[in-house]
Amino acid sequence: METTQPMLMRALAARIKDEDVSYRTRLLERAAKLTDVIAMGRGDPDFHTPRHIAEAAKKAIDENQHHYTLPAGMPQLRSAIADHLASDFGLDYGQDEIIVTAGTQEAVMLCMLALVNPGDEVLMPRPRFTTYDTAVEMCGGVPVSVPTFEHDDFALMPAEIEKRITPRTRALVLVTPNNPTGAVTPPDRIREIADIARRHDIVVLSDEIYAKLIFEGSEHLSIATLPGMKDRTITLNGFSKTYAMTGWRIGYIAAPAPFIRKLIEPRHTLSINASTPSQWAALAALTGPQEPIQEMLRAYAERRAFMLPALRDLGFTCGNPAGAFYVYTNVEASGLSAPRFCERLLDEARVLVFPGTLFGDTDDRYIRLSLLQPMERMREAIDRIKAARDRIFVRPKA
Ligand SMILES: Cc1ncc(COP(=O)(O)O)c(C=O)c1O
Repeated sequence: METTQPMLMRALAARIKDEDVSYRTRLLERAAKLTDVIAMGRGDPDFHTPRHIAEAAKKAIDENQHHYTLPAGMPQLRSAIADHLASDFGLDYGQDEIIVTAGTQEAVMLCMLALVNPGDEVLMPRPRFTTYDTAVEMCGGVPVSVPTFEHDDFALMPAEIEKRITPRTRALVLVTPNNPTGAVTPPDRIREIADIARRHDIVVLSDEIYAKLIFEGSEHLSIATLPGMKDRTITLNGFSKTYAMTGWRIGYIAAPAPFIRKLIEPRHTLSINASTPSQWAALAALTGPQEPIQEMLRAYAERRAFMLPALRDLGFTCGNPAGAFYVYTNVEASGLSAPRFCERLLDEARVLVFPGTLFGDTDDRYIRLSLLQPMERMREAIDRIKAARDRIFVRPKA
């Protein structure tokens, strides 16, 4: 049969999806055509990387530190990561139990390459950061959603996890605080989850990329600190969110040494090593002053304190995000589905937010709003929404 498809399109492997670019990309392209958009879509801090971190990378370049490093990363960085995990989270990893990656993103893919055989099931919260879906699917595995709900502040429920365990379950992805909900899984639940993992003999992939961004009154517990858990846990983390270092592309995996050793060749295949100047920057981030993180966290807390009541005043509801820098908001009061709401909001108010459907949510009433604009811009966003309300909402104010 004759086909009109160009050769390379016919040549695409089955793992490449048929659909066009994602809704996220289309929304970003639509926003790029407008001027003065208030961007509260992406998870990219508005703060710049603290100066001393950028200076460390410049110095590294000036000193010709721009060659390949060991695939696992610079020994001094691996050692600093191990020290940081011990001092900040009570985790017990040695230098040979750390592998540095090009962002946590690469760490996710590497872990799935190492763990998932075709047909294996991987449990993950819904909604979630959907790179997890793509990575599992690219390895022939099956993502299995564990739903979370607004009435529980989107907390992960151990019973909901256990219900979905089958003989094919290979791993559980635990992301706390979670993206897009900001939900922090409290320590007592983490203990129950650890118990489930031990009883059912499953691996836990603990993504702790937001673990330094916890608001007052909440607590983070790293699951690998619990008895018997280090052996079955892979801890993922990175510098993007905590240190406002999204473009530097540095993340890491911490796990027992024999497992880490097995990751070195696939890691070499993906990108040989994480960017060398960026590794120097990451080293400065861990060993330099930590005050900039506290300042950023204070700013996120202030923005959150403004945004939650402002959204409720508009008739929306939201859980109580205990960490990260997102507010997962129910926009049912607008009378629009979340994707439609996002398009109308962009066109009428020039405010960019993402629908929850981009995060694997099957409920289309939610948007994710990032607290990643200065206060005056966030105030303006709310003013613009109020001013455009009659044009956006199809349901009149109650
Ligand atoms: C839960 C989670 N994990 C991993 C990542 C990837 O982060 P990076 O590759 O910038 O370290 C993100 C980015 O938004 C995320 O939200």
